[in-house]
Formats: sequence, C-alpha cells, structure tokens
Amino acid sequence: MSYYSKIIGTGKGLPETIMTNKDFEAFVETSDEWIRTRTGIAQRHIANPEKGESTLSLARKAAQNALQMANIPAQEIELIIVGTVTPESVMPTTANSLQRDLGAVNAFSFDLQAACSGFLYGLSIADQYIRSGSLKTALVVGAETLSTLINWQDRSTCVLFGDAAGAAILTRTDNKSHAILSTRTYSDGTRGDLLKIPHGYAACPPWRADYRPSEHKIKMQGSEIFKLAVRNMCDASMKVLEDNQLKVEDVDFFIFHQANIRIIEMCAKTLNVPLNKTWLNVDKYGNTSAATLPICLDEAWRAGAIKSGDKVLMTTFGGGITWGATLVQM
Ligand code: ACO
Repeated sequence: MSYYSKIIGTGKGLPETIMTNKDFEAFVETSDEWIRTRTGIAQRHIANPEKGESTLSLARKAAQNALQMANIPAQEIELIIVGTVTPESVMPTTANSLQRDLGAVNAFSFDLQAACSGFLYGLSIADQYIRSGSLKTALVVGAETLSTLINWQDRSTCVLFGDAAGAAILTRTDNKSHAILSTRTYSDGTRGDLLKIPHGYAACPPWRADYRPSEHKIKMQGSEIFKLAVRNMCDASMKVLEDNQLKVEDVDFFIFHQANIRIIEMCAKTLNVPLNKTWLNVDKYGNTSAATLPICLDEAWRAGAIKSGDKVLMTTFGGGITWGATLVQM
C-alpha cells in the first residue's frame, strides 16, 4: 500500500503589537508611501518580550490552533519540526521546548534552518517520514521573531520584516486525492552572501574581539534577491506541476511567499496566475520568513478560499539561498 500525507489542521500565532509604516518615520528616513509602493507592506506585528512573546510562544499558539482544527491530542504527534532562523535557543531547540509545552510526549523534535524556506523544507521532510511508513502524524511549524535580527537603522531592511508563526499537522492517508502530491526543494550556497547575518555565530561569536553587534543583523542585497526570488519560485512551481503532469490552469489556489507584493505580482504574471487565485497578507504582516506559507494556508482555508479537494501550489524563496514548491490536494 502507498502512503501519503494529508494536512488535517493549520494554525497561526501573532504578537499583539502592530508597528505601522508611519512608526518608522520617527527613526529612519522613509515614508509610508515609499514602503507601500515598493513592498506592499502597511504594517507588521512585533513580539514584545515583556508580554512573554517570543519565537516559542508564537509557535505554541500556532501549534495549539492547528491541533484544535485537527481535533487530535498532542500525544498523537510523532515528529515536530520548527523551521526558524530565530530559535528560542539553540539548545534546547525551539522544537524541543514546543514538544514540552504541548505535552507531545511521543514526538521527536528538531529545528530546521532554511530561512524563509524553513516551513516548506520541514513539510517535505515530514512528508518523507510519513510516506515511508516510519510515522503517522507530524507537526510542522514556521516561527520567527525577525525583529531580533533587524538593524533598526538600516531602512532598506528594517521595514520589510515581521514576527509570527504558522503551523500544519500532517497525518498518514492512503487516499492520494487529499494529500501532498509532491515537493521540490532547492538551495544554492554560492549565492549565500546576498542575504546573510555575518556575526553572532561560530564564524564570529559574540565573545570575539572583532565581533560587532551591528553585523549580527540581516544584511541583504535587495534587488538581486528580488530577481532570484521571482525566477526560482516560478521554476520550482513549474517543476511540481511537471511532476504531476498538470498545468497552471489545473491549480485551484496559489500561495506565494509573502516578502514583497511586487515579487508576488511578478511571479503571478510570469506563471499567468490571476491574483484572485492567491492569498495576500504581506500588507498586514510584512515578511515573516518561514511563517508566511502556513499562515496563508491557515487563513485561506479558514476563510473558505481553499476547499476540500482543491489543488494548492505553495512556493517560497529565502536566504541561504533556499527555495522550493509543493503541490497539495486539500
Ligand atoms: N525608505 C526610503 N528609501 C529607501 C528605503 C526605505 N525604507 N529602503 C531603501 N531606500 C532607498 C535606497 O537607499 C535607494 O536610494 P538611493 O538610490 O539613494 O541609493 C532607493 O531607495 C532605491 O533602492 P533599491 O534597493 O533599488 O529599491 P528597490 O526598488 O529594489 O526596493 C526592496 C528595495 C524593497 C528591498 C526590494 O529590493 C525588495 O523587496 N527585494 C526583495 C528582498 C526581500 O524581500 N527580502 C526578504 C528576504 S528574501 C525573501 O523573503 C524573498
């Protein structure tokens, strides 16, 4: 018998505090108009540690919502993957702490670093475990507090990001008409310099004399990333369609990584996808890295924009560089 993975629950977790474009005008030379026209972002949510908000708390909220939708106890989860570049701590991992908080006593858990592609990579790994028959139920989370890695003086990056988490629960099925059909994952380490965090880790730890806090922040070559994001998300999308002998028109709904409305529009135009077949929330949340895909999936599903049996194509691109696409029949 062949096994497949079915998505049975999704959820999101957002911090309470909203930071608008106007708020940035107080400390960098920018404007609401510039940010809106260049990125499509109007506001983003920012975690407040004083309110107990962190990568872990957001991941927990998203996972709890997903469990509720799936209507299963946490004890049924056998694998937890948290895609994040802003882990709560490196040891224990965010996933280990999430396992503890959820009481998912039968799961093994680990964090996965693939920047904005963290959720998609995680989905692909969980799907392989389930297809192989090794386990039945997995929780995949994308959770970030990128506000902790933002240089608030760098106007070209600080306006782009937000904090959030999204989650999905997969379970084994033998029914391919409600399952992940295929996933393609890619990376190109030769382009890693385009989006990086130079200091703060083993290459230059905080206790070294040459460590600079200003380098422990996101550095990005925006226009190069922009072009690669469009090309690679479109290529990956076409690959998963080819894998299933499907055409763009056969797909009911598209979810593009929410980094910039212009990237999304360019992808939609290249693939010939009408924007009313996509979910857009970059205006409300900014780029929440690994959290964008599961949040879109959750919102679109709960809103009824995605229905049972719909073919949904999700594609992402992130630092590293990493990218990929997946086709799911819900
Ligand atoms: N407010 C006002 N001016 C700004 C701002 C700002 N917030 N940021 C940059 N500028 C200025 C620049 O300094 C530059 O000024 P100059 O010409 O005097 O040097 C001018 O605007 C144009 O800058 P560009 O970088 O050419 O602007 P561009 O149109 O490329 O937009 C942006 C920049 C929004 C970063 C765009 O390149 C982009 O979105 N790239 C994709 C990057 C991204 O989304 N990365 C996220 C991670 S990867 C991913 O998730 C896909």
